[in-house]
Amino acid sequence: VRITTNIALLLAAAVLGSCALQPQNDDPRYTSDGQLIFPAAYRDWAFLTSGLDMSYVKSAPSGSMHMFENVFVNPAGHEAFRKTGTWPDKTTLLIEYRDASSAVSINKHGRVQIDGPQGYLAHVKDEHRFSGNWRFFSFGTDGKPGSMLPTATACYTCHSSHAAVDTTFVQFYPSLLPIAKSKGTLSAGYVRESK
Ligand code: HEC
Repeated sequence: VRITTNIALLLAAAVLGSCALQPQNDDPRYTSDGQLIFPAAYRDWAFLTSGLDMSYVKSAPSGSMHMFENVFVNPAGHEAFRKTGTWPDKTTLLIEYRDASSAVSINKHGRVQIDGPQGYLAHVKDEHRFSGNWRFFSFGTDGKPGSMLPTATACYTCHSSHAAVDTTFVQFYPSLLPIAKSKGTLSAGYVRESK
């Protein structure tokens, strides 16, 4: 009897252990009215870059606001990109905005991140749900679901004309660009512009 109990305990431990090892499902999830549920675990995702004060117009930005945009991607998307040089279905990329502060604590020069986040934008690939595969969503800081940006907005045009891989700005994600180059997955538009 004793032996069987031990075996049962061992089996239970093995089952629990294998559950703990299962990766969390990081697919995008939606509300019934099509909003994107905020991916609360994004700080455990892969970090791609921190853009500082990026601007896409020639004139210098006015005002004294400085902002970082930190870009993260869900682990399954990141793992697949490293193998193939492009994004699988169900990829989510997320920008987190934070004030770029100066003269805080011992810092005298340069910019650091202490406040925020101020908000988020997501880029989601979902082949069955969206024609054209990708959609943008925006979130506030309340953790509530985010609404989809209409496809007529400039977001979609800039991303589809200038982004290096599958409408995402991999040219600014230094750990991924060499992979896209070696796998030959760069977009025609980006290759033309970078000549
Ligand atoms: C004029 C070009 C341009 C426009 C317009 C634009 N973006 Fe982007 N977007 C970029 C660039 C460049 C990056 C790379 C950011 C970085 O390196 O930090 C980016 C990155 C992103 C990312 C990170 C994932 C990715 O696709 O690379 C998201 C999410 C995003 N933008 C959302 C939006 C949304 C939403 C809008 C519209 C409200 C928008 N963008 C409009 C140029 C643009």
